Amino acid sequence: MNNTGAGIAITGCGSAAPKAILSNNNLAQIVETSDEWIASRTGMKNRHIASNTESLSQLSAIAAQQAIAMAGIAPTDIDLIILATSTPDDLFGSACKVQGLIGATRAVAFDLTAACSGFVFALITAAQFIRTGVHKNVLVIGADVLSRWVDWSDRTTCVLFGDGAGAVVCQGIPEGDRLLACEMYSDGSQNDNLNLSYQSQSQPLVADLTNESGTYQPITMNGREVYRFAVAKVPEAIEKAMFRTNLTAEDIDWLLLHQANQRIMDAVAKRLKIPQSKILSNIAEYGNTSAASIPLALDAAVREGKVKPGDTIAASGFGAGLTWASAIFKWK
Ligand code: ACO
Repeated sequence: MNNTGAGIAITGCGSAAPKAILSNNNLAQIVETSDEWIASRTGMKNRHIASNTESLSQLSAIAAQQAIAMAGIAPTDIDLIILATSTPDDLFGSACKVQGLIGATRAVAFDLTAACSGFVFALITAAQFIRTGVHKNVLVIGADVLSRWVDWSDRTTCVLFGDGAGAVVCQGIPEGDRLLACEMYSDGSQNDNLNLSYQSQSQPLVADLTNESGTYQPITMNGREVYRFAVAKVPEAIEKAMFRTNLTAEDIDWLLLHQANQRIMDAVAKRLKIPQSKILSNIAEYGNTSAASIPLALDAAVREGKVKPGDTIAASGFGAGLTWASAIFKWK
């Protein structure tokens, strides 16, 4: 527990990706596809794939350490860690493992699952703890290793996903709230459009009682439906957040969307009347890294000097659930 803050500032960011790179041409050796098809339909050229020595927890810890260093605080200053992931190293959660790796001995840590919306959901959750004065320094991590959960013989999904982690530090500040507005949504009626679901096999234990042990099955996705959903719902969520905070499209310096498809990002920008030059995109290098994609893209843009203190960023995540969310914030 810590002192209160009337507002929130995002004061540090960091990111990490596995070393190995899988190119579109590499993928063309695995499934019937081509660099031309993948690049023109998605904007993707490469994705990073975790090896057996690169765990989700380790990638998260590297991203977290960078974010904490940029914020100018120590790991022991962190009160709360929220790890947004759908692919923990351990089904019981990986946030506590990350806490141990970075030495955030005073923090409480937990996982949050909302697929590709996970980072924005976690940011909004962090904001509740800060606004109520329960915690002051919150580490929000988005990380996924979906390469472990794709069917490498299914060209409709295996070309899309890569691995990575990104993190931000959110701090309570006495005045001048920099998290201007947020929106969160889900629609379970469309759940079947994107799944990584559990499948069991019956194993008799005693008379009339079976155990259902199994494992999670690779990702299945109705790409066209998810595409349609994203280009309809994401602009709506951002427009609502802009309305709440009396901002117009001209006030937005950067559009920071979940990196699922360059065509989705372009369509959302067009609908919002935000110029394409304001889209932050790293999809060519990382593909869709699920919960990691937004903080990965933010971190690159900050470190390149593109995003500057005071810039207004409209972020939106969307994905399985189906879930979607937006957050408008000023950097630093
Ligand atoms: N290489 C070559 N051909 C392919 C490939 C491939 N990798 N994948 C599909 N095709 C073929 C299809 O079989 C189809 O052939 P057909 O016309 O003979 O049937 C054709 O290409 C067109 O397929 P579509 O599915 O219509 O292709 P589309 O232009 O819609 O692109 C894509 C597919 C990239 C998946 C797109 O629909 C998309 O981006 N959807 C949204 C995905 C998304 O946003 N996910 C976000 C959340 S992820 C999460 O939450 C974990």
